Amino acid sequence: MTDDLKRAAAEKALELVHDGMLVGLGSGSTARFFTEGLGRLVAEGMKVRGVPTSRETAELAAELGIPIVTELLGPIDLAVDGADEVDPDLNLIKGRGGALFREKLVAAASKRFVVVIDESKLVKQLGVGVLPVEVLPFLWRTTAERLAELGVSLVVRGGEETPYITDNGNLILDLTVGGGIAKSADFGFELKKVTGVVEHGLFVAMTDTVIVAGPEGPKAIGRSSQPAGKYPAKPGDGAGR
Ligand code: 5RP
Repeated sequence: MTDDLKRAAAEKALELVHDGMLVGLGSGSTARFFTEGLGRLVAEGMKVRGVPTSRETAELAAELGIPIVTELLGPIDLAVDGADEVDPDLNLIKGRGGALFREKLVAAASKRFVVVIDESKLVKQLGVGVLPVEVLPFLWRTTAERLAELGVSLVVRGGEETPYITDNGNLILDLTVGGGIAKSADFGFELKKVTGVVEHGLFVAMTDTVIVAGPEGPKAIGRSSQPAGKYPAKPGDGAGR
């Protein structure tokens, strides 16, 4: 059932893809349905190129015959990715699949960032589950201590003996924020100030559209204001919304 909803959201996002687009390809099980659908469109003759957010997605795209781009000369037209939590302002927690850093780079480089989810990902306030933070392995314990001073508890993903290593060669610390994250932008800034933090999984004011699939079918929810800190959309190109 959940897979059906994920697929439905991804199929709806495919309607936004047009010939000639440079498309950011997310990671995780929902984004996978999108990449598979894009592969279908490519097989049918559509000319698009993809910017993968993880090695796994890059391998899938290659298998499906989607041309891959990793060096950008301009913006990505459209990025489509999943999320772990989505709040009413369309702020996100991402990274429980471990690809948050490249996912954020791709989202930030995109004229339009579309998130595909099933309705179980909608939350009133972020922080229901863990918040992933990617940190440099070098002196990571001291980084973890400084993070703990922010009032969170944390674990090394995979455990200290066999830690999970990201595509960038880093560790992930999964933070539990007691009481949830009331001010996600402020908390994101606090996390970024901690030396040793490479990136965190809070995506604040980056999402343009969320496509959420429930039993009644997929529904698009848009943001009214211009996203902050994103690649500027060209006037009149339909991005920004
Ligand atoms: C990976 C992610 C994923 O987009 C997120 O974990 C959602 O995955 P799924 O669609 O499998 O639930 O952020 O880093």
